[in-house]
Amino acid sequence: MNLREKYGPWAVVTGASAGIGAQFARQLAARKFNLVLAARRMERLQKLADELSRENAIECRPISIDLSKEESASELNEATSTVDAGLLINNAGMGYYGLVTKQDPRRYPTMIRLNCTTVALLAHYFAKRFVERGRGGMVIVASTASFQGTAHMSLYGATKGFDLLLAEAMAQELKGSGVDVLALCPGVTATEFQGSAGGASHAGADPGGVARDALKALGRKPVVISGALNKVQVVSERLFPRKLVVALGERVLRRLES
Ligand SMILES: NC(=O)c1ccc[n+]([C@@H]2O[C@H](COP(=O)([O-])OP(=O)(O)OC[C@H]3O[C@@H](n4cnc5c(N)ncnc54)[C@H](OP(=O)(O)O)[C@@H]3O)[C@@H](O)[C@H]2O)c1
Repeated sequence: MNLREKYGPWAVVTGASAGIGAQFARQLAARKFNLVLAARRMERLQKLADELSRENAIECRPISIDLSKEESASELNEATSTVDAGLLINNAGMGYYGLVTKQDPRRYPTMIRLNCTTVALLAHYFAKRFVERGRGGMVIVASTASFQGTAHMSLYGATKGFDLLLAEAMAQELKGSGVDVLALCPGVTATEFQGSAGGASHAGADPGGVARDALKALGRKPVVISGALNKVQVVSERLFPRKLVVALGERVLRRLES
C-alpha cells in the first residue's frame, strides 16, 4: 500500500516554508497528498502552495502561524479540523548556538515552546484524531543531537532529546492502533537552520534526502537516523563513556558555531 492510501488524503506539515519541511511538502505533493502548510512566513507558504497545487493537481492550504505561541497547537488543530488529515509532519523547530552563560535567556522559552510544547500538543491532538479514524502517521523531527549532551548548543540538544523520547514512546503506545510514529534524526543539513541558530555557514546533507529517508522509514521502525555517517556516529557513541562522547561532540559544535 502506498503512503497516500495508507494515511491520506491530507497531510499537515509544520515548518513548511523552508528546509526539511518544504522538502516534505514537495515529496508528499508528488504522492498526491492534499496539504496544510504551516509556518510564519505566509508569502513563502503561498508561493509553495500555488506551485504544488498547480503541478500536482492537489489542494494546498497555507496557514501563517507562530508555533512558539501558547495556543498555537490547539489553533492549528482547530484550523485543520475540516480536512481528513492522516499524516502529521511535526517538523518546525529552531536552534541556538552559544555557551549557556553567554546566551540571551529570553530566547529559551520560545525555543522550548516551539521545539517541545507545541510538538507534544500537536502530537497529542493528531494522534487522537488518527486513532479515531483508525489510521495515521506522524513524523517528529528530532536530531542526531538527541542522543547526547550538546555543549555549545545545550538547550537545543535537550529539546531534541525530548522530541526523540516522545516519538519513541508514542510509537510504542500506538502499536496496533493503525497509527505509526517516527522520530527522524538528521545530522547537519543544508537549510536555513544553521544561519538562524547563529551557526557558521557549513555544508550539510540534502534536505530532500532527509525527508525521503523519513517517508521510507515511517511505518517500518520508530526511529530513523538519516545518513550513513550519522548512523555510524550514533551507534559508535554507545560504545564509549558518555562524558567522552560529549567532549568529542563539543569539538564539532565549536566548529559549527560562528
Ligand atoms: N538543519 C539541520 O542541520 C538540522 C539537523 C537536525 C535536526 N533539524 C531539525 O529539523 C527541523 C527543520 O529544520 P530545518 O533544518 O528545515 O530549518 P529551517 O530551514 O530553518 O526551517 C525551519 C522551519 O520552521 C519554521 N519555524 C521556525 N520558527 C517557527 C515558529 N515560531 N512558528 C512556526 N514555524 C516556525 C520556519 O518557518 P518560518 O520562519 O516561516 O516560521 C521554517 O519553515 C527542526 O526541527 C530542526 O531542529 C535540523
